[in-house]
Amino acid sequence: MSFTAPIQLPGLTRDPLWYRRSVFYEVLVSAYVDSNGDGSGDLQGLASKLDYLQWLGIDALWIPPFFQSPLRDGGYDVSDYRAILPDFGTIDEFKDLVRKAHERNMRVIIDLPLNHTSDQHDWFQQSRSDPEGPYGDFYVWSDTDEKWPDIRIIFTDTEESNWAFDPVRRQFYFHRFFSHQPDLNFNHPAVHEAVFDIVRFWLDLGVDGFRLDAIPYLYESDEGNGEGEPPTHEFLKELRAMVDREYPGRIMIAEANQWPKEVAAFFGTDEEPECHMAFDFPVMPRIFYSLRSQQADELVRVLSEVTDIPSWAGWGVFLRNHDELTLEMVSEEYRQAMYGWYAYDPRMRANVGIRRRLAPLLDNSRAELELAHALLFSLAGSPFLYYGDEIGMGDNIWLDDRDSSRTPMQWTPDRNAGFSSADPGKLTLPVVQSLVYNYSVVNVESQLAQSRSLLHWVRNVIHVRKAHPAFGLGSLRVLQTDHESVLAFVRSYEGSGTHFGDQPEDVLCVFSFGHNPISVRIEAPELANTRLQDLFGGGAFPSVDEDGVLTLTLATQSFYWLHIGRHEQY
Ligand code: GLC
Repeated sequence: MSFTAPIQLPGLTRDPLWYRRSVFYEVLVSAYVDSNGDGSGDLQGLASKLDYLQWLGIDALWIPPFFQSPLRDGGYDVSDYRAILPDFGTIDEFKDLVRKAHERNMRVIIDLPLNHTSDQHDWFQQSRSDPEGPYGDFYVWSDTDEKWPDIRIIFTDTEESNWAFDPVRRQFYFHRFFSHQPDLNFNHPAVHEAVFDIVRFWLDLGVDGFRLDAIPYLYESDEGNGEGEPPTHEFLKELRAMVDREYPGRIMIAEANQWPKEVAAFFGTDEEPECHMAFDFPVMPRIFYSLRSQQADELVRVLSEVTDIPSWAGWGVFLRNHDELTLEMVSEEYRQAMYGWYAYDPRMRANVGIRRRLAPLLDNSRAELELAHALLFSLAGSPFLYYGDEIGMGDNIWLDDRDSSRTPMQWTPDRNAGFSSADPGKLTLPVVQSLVYNYSVVNVESQLAQSRSLLHWVRNVIHVRKAHPAFGLGSLRVLQTDHESVLAFVRSYEGSGTHFGDQPEDVLCVFSFGHNPISVRIEAPELANTRLQDLFGGGAFPSVDEDGVLTLTLATQSFYWLHIGRHEQY
């Protein structure tokens, strides 16, 4: 399998499980740095900030689509998979970005929306005008829009049906997302070939893997609901086999907004692997729920559910990303509570979710930002940061759809936040100028100058995490406590026995969602008589007593990461 094969790329470590140890950073090319003053961010601009990202401790970039596109869905509407949108740069500039990232031991993951294309894609234009031609069957055409009524609508704000009528071909075409994004027909072998060629094209340019956008939706059937149908998994097995054979060491990440048990299917098995990683969607809204309800029970519940996954497989955890904070994975009661707390203005909502950034969601509370990040960096899985959240950037709910949280990165208090030298009116999206999050106050430069800023704090936590392989590679076991506001778990790692020299270690993580200080009793029989030490400063803590009970006090909305001296005697 690929993870045993040596990785050939220069500058990169040969760690076959690099994705399990990595801290990922999602960065929109359009919003990071505009290097040529045309008002749009670009690849050269992003490349110019790799030193910053390396300093922060980032191991891998996730770059959402930067291909040729009419940009009616932030680039997830691709009109040519082999061309880069000219505003963003050229293929040579992309190669340069990859080379510079690899020199810094940083991987580059690109986003591949394969379920659908833009209706501007040449394949669709040919398919609609020439049904008998080579692209006639590239999309899902039907004479009726009544088929598959059980397939849910995802973009509930804008779409009433998953079918749209094409006046040229005089048939309906199927679309899981916007009506300008027709779904590709994966029942057609030529579509597989076309997709494989696109994957090879980008792997040849040196990318380290793909985020497979909207991957459950490739196939539809009369029996199923169009999410994770058996042929979708067959296709992923073939794709993975090709990648392993031709490009060993590169990875596939599944975007599947489902329950872990269903998502686990996207890892496949040891014999027939599919994706190396998949995002954990259910845990994220529960973090936000706990922060306001002061109840840890839902987190305790989902984290106690053990999902069997292959030993090499990894979860991706996140607080925010370029989409709305989706509430699809919580009950109606919880959803309404969360709308009340976090989206009291209807403008803040989008589809089944909330279109705000992390800092405004948490009302810019430093305690909550720290607690949320401490969870992000200690849960089972690799953390995915969203650009700008490391400085607590704000959003702009007056912009359309999810653009509210896709505004330019705030680098300095200068014109356009240091993002661009263009006329401010020319920017693709305006910089945030709100009272609290104004770029003159919230920016990288000023946070670099303050040793206690959020940016320095996040960087420090990232580095502590990276010094302890238990976070990336260890198991997670939830402990019983006597306080409803407390979540406690142990991360345990047996050591790798490889040339990485990892030692076995155990870390106890305790979080209080209480809005006041609390005292808690934690039950940990198997940790009886062990010493505890703060992972940050090394300070000694009370030991777990001989009955396996630990009593701790925690300040308002606070946490501990404690080294467990299980391997030492005392
Ligand atoms: C994924 C992307 C989202 C996009 C959708 C349709 O869910 O994350 O941004 O709109 O796919 O391509």
